[in-house]
Amino acid sequence: MAHVKQYGRQLIDQEDIRAVTETLGSDFLTQGPKAAEFESELARTVGSSAAVVCSSGTAGLHLAMLALEIGPGDTVWTAPITFVASANVALYVGANVDLVDIDDGSWNISPQRVAEKIEHYRQTRKTLPKAIVVVHFAGCPADTKTIREIVEPHGIRIIEDASHALGASTPTERVGSCQHSDMTVFSFHPVKNITTGEGGAVTTSSALLESRLRQGRTHGINRDVVSADEPWRYDQETLGFNYRLSDIQSALGLTQIKKLNQFIVHRSRLHEHYLGRLSGLPYIKLQSLGEHQSAHHLMVVRVPHRRRLPTYRFLQERQIGVQVHYLPIYEHAYYKALGVGDRLQYPASAAYYSETLSLPMHANLTVQDIDRVCDSLIEALDVG
Ligand SMILES: Cc1ncc(COP(=O)(O)O)c(C=O)c1O
Repeated sequence: MAHVKQYGRQLIDQEDIRAVTETLGSDFLTQGPKAAEFESELARTVGSSAAVVCSSGTAGLHLAMLALEIGPGDTVWTAPITFVASANVALYVGANVDLVDIDDGSWNISPQRVAEKIEHYRQTRKTLPKAIVVVHFAGCPADTKTIREIVEPHGIRIIEDASHALGASTPTERVGSCQHSDMTVFSFHPVKNITTGEGGAVTTSSALLESRLRQGRTHGINRDVVSADEPWRYDQETLGFNYRLSDIQSALGLTQIKKLNQFIVHRSRLHEHYLGRLSGLPYIKLQSLGEHQSAHHLMVVRVPHRRRLPTYRFLQERQIGVQVHYLPIYEHAYYKALGVGDRLQYPASAAYYSETLSLPMHANLTVQDIDRVCDSLIEALDVG
């Protein structure tokens, strides 16, 4: 029962601890053979031709911006309902951020709103964005295929932010395979579906983007310089960062990814149990998953606005890990100052934010834990 106090939590077992301990005794602590092995395993798992691991999901998004050569004068779009990192990385490279409202059912970026926004930009002669960051919110795949059909004719590139969605798939695609995008970014923060403590990765099927990601991850240095006079030579060709993932972290990633399928099956079972208890109850709205296999990173419910705060407090008092994901990007002081709009411009996001609560969802929980959470939620809402 102790674990219901947290809305998300890692599950670390003896195999994980052994792998990390063994790596501590090896030749490589920083990025080495374990990182390369983790990259192969990740690419195989999601069905991409390449994976580049890095120090966080944020670093991965930043590297993706650099790989697409996004910079000052460019614009990047994303949805308001996401973690700030999805937008911040555009600012890191000097680009502007603009937002596109979410769909009322999937709570992912709305392809229809993307099409409308392109039309609006064209009519007002604004320069179209160079890229769009498509977030797979709560682990449910966004409609990347339709978005690509809309944006590709305009030369807009697609970065999938799959920080929530390792292990998710649509009926035709595994998230991360980049069938309809340039790159997909994952996070291995402890609340995510697998963890490396901190960590991230970018998958791509483009050899050019892969080499830019690799170079950007290590200061912009190219080590494949051939020089007979200076055999020690390497060259910094671009301005990059130290965004490496250590072998200690990669060893953990390798034992964690082995359990990904098991984690997803467990999360799906918990989700089914939530549905059994909550669907059909008055006032409760759930995310529409369509035909997709969600990674079930978050268990989000929408409750009437006037009941949201009392329900939040009630669950907290019962020591149930309740959260709100997310304060919309346009509500943050920093973005307000940048003038990215307000709630009137993004009505679906505003309605979502006024009603949302995240309930505990992670691999340590049992169906009895879910029953306890649902009993308390139903009591708080008085809908049983
Ligand atoms: C949607 C989304 N994007 C990006 C990130 C950033 O990932 P990290 O914490 O690994 O930098 C997160 C992590 O919380 C996230 O939820």
